[in-house]
Amino acid sequence: MSIKLGIIGGGVMGEAILSRLLAQQVYRSDQVLVSDPQAQRREDLSQRYGVNVTSDNGVAAEAGEVLLLAIKPQVFKAVASNLSQDDQNPSASETLPLVISILAGVSLGKLEAVFEHQPVIRAMPNTPATVGAGITAIAPGKTVTAKHLQVAKTLLGAVGEVVEVSESLMDAVTGLSGSGPAYVAVMIEALADGGVAAGLPRAIASKLALSTVWGTAQLLQDKQLHPAQLKDQVTSPGGTTIAGIAELERSGFRSALIEAVQAAYQRSQQLGK
Ligand SMILES: NC(=O)c1ccc[n+]([C@@H]2O[C@H](COP(=O)([O-])OP(=O)(O)OC[C@H]3O[C@@H](n4cnc5c(N)ncnc54)[C@H](OP(=O)(O)O)[C@@H]3O)[C@@H](O)[C@H]2O)c1
Repeated sequence: MSIKLGIIGGGVMGEAILSRLLAQQVYRSDQVLVSDPQAQRREDLSQRYGVNVTSDNGVAAEAGEVLLLAIKPQVFKAVASNLSQDDQNPSASETLPLVISILAGVSLGKLEAVFEHQPVIRAMPNTPATVGAGITAIAPGKTVTAKHLQVAKTLLGAVGEVVEVSESLMDAVTGLSGSGPAYVAVMIEALADGGVAAGLPRAIASKLALSTVWGTAQLLQDKQLHPAQLKDQVTSPGGTTIAGIAELERSGFRSALIEAVQAAYQRSQQLGK
């Protein structure tokens, strides 16, 4: 048995990444070892995906290629204290895996202090990753090479798009794509409420709202349109859409979104201290 990928934390995100890596044949199930404290969870993952499972994080940390950290940030300290490499020989670092952490708010500095002889990449995925439509920002640590970056892009590319940023931009990423799914969810709910206020049945209004947001995003992406171009194309003189836009502007819609991203960015900075 040759384990290439170790995953510490087989929860929502760990499973989302695992399932797509297997479906896309980036790894075979026998090349993956997932560590999780819950026996039932281990049993489920083993049954569903045929992967190896363990309750020993130390064994997962010895994977041949990549160690993916997918635990909650709150347990990082406890997990890290058991994985400390103080007694490890730095000359053996060639055989140690690339560490990819998806833990919100855990800095490269903290990760590199624990995995001091290993290349480390910090990543920030978002919730749509669970359906393969995420976007993940990655920030490379001190000893990361182009090859490591490629490995991380392939691994996280299994759950959506990947962009590379410097670590100093991770709080801004959190404010936009990390928290953004909630802003969009609120917008979809509000659009549906507007439809109901205008007389539509709830189920129809919800479907119209969801498909409108989905379809507009796809249109912008497929046609490579700037959002303002699309807005101009659909606002006829004296028409309905410009009347709606005028109300959005009166109500400070743009400013509300800009302020929301800024507020989440600042909160992320505070939490990281
Ligand atoms: N979900 C998202 O949309 C999202 C987006 C961006 C970033 N992230 C990041 O992804 C990470 C995982 O989030 P998640 O939503 O997947 O959380 P989750 O579902 O709670 O998964 C974490 C898993 O780790 C297990 N675990 C707890 N203590 C452990 C230990 N000592 N050793 C090994 N495994 C342990 C948990 O088991 P128990 O259930 O028994 O505690 C659980 O199965 C977080 O750091 C979060 O910041 C998540």
